[in-house]
Amino acid sequence: MADQSEKTTHFGFETVTESEKAGRVQGVFGSVASRYDIMNDVMSGGIHRVWKDAMMDWLAPRSGQKLLDVAGGTGDIAYRFLKLAGQGHATVLDLTEEMLVEGRKRAEASQMVDQLDWSVGDAMALPFPDNSFDVYTISFGIRNVTRPQDALNEAFRVLRPGGRLMVQAVKLKVISLVMLFLLCWVQSRQTYLVVFMGF
Ligand SMILES: C[S@@+](CC[C@H](N)C(=O)[O-])C[C@H]1O[C@@H](n2cnc3c(N)ncnc32)[C@H](O)[C@@H]1O
Repeated sequence: MADQSEKTTHFGFETVTESEKAGRVQGVFGSVASRYDIMNDVMSGGIHRVWKDAMMDWLAPRSGQKLLDVAGGTGDIAYRFLKLAGQGHATVLDLTEEMLVEGRKRAEASQMVDQLDWSVGDAMALPFPDNSFDVYTISFGIRNVTRPQDALNEAFRVLRPGGRLMVQAVKLKVISLVMLFLLCWVQSRQTYLVVFMGF
């Protein structure tokens, strides 16, 4: 039961205190980490791969770019980014260490070891200096973050002027899957937001 003196938030269908939520998220993803990739394929019928590839088409990674993939789990976005960017660098940050451990075991890891960093941390308090990344992504993770606005503030802080921010999220409705891509261009500290919906 939630402590009445603390701010509350949602965790699935439950109301929990904000401080409790991070532990719950880590508990869930920590317990499924070793099966996460296969579960993702089975539960989405593989369509998450198509959406992630589409996200890369929008992002169009370029050689030398530095990516921060927040709530990056087992590295799906970071691996795709590096394959396309060639000479780029990717940092995968996630609250749940077990997810990152699984990501490091993937077949692609050995060829990209010098281009990848794995960091345990919270989207709402990133352990990186200002203006340190060209690209920030968060794919199927924003709904798990307790205060999404805090995460976006942090994204804005760590992105260099002219950097790009992309949030990928999915909302399950009774008869349709609605995919939202929020594509933000952060140019000279001005943000343009484009929303795409797919069924
Ligand atoms: C549904 S998984 C998505 C993983 C990956 N991005 C993908 O698309 O396959 C959500 C991830 O968000 C992470 N997460 C949840 N809250 C977070 C937070 N506040 N900061 C960083 N990561 C968080 C979880 O640990 C989990 O690995």
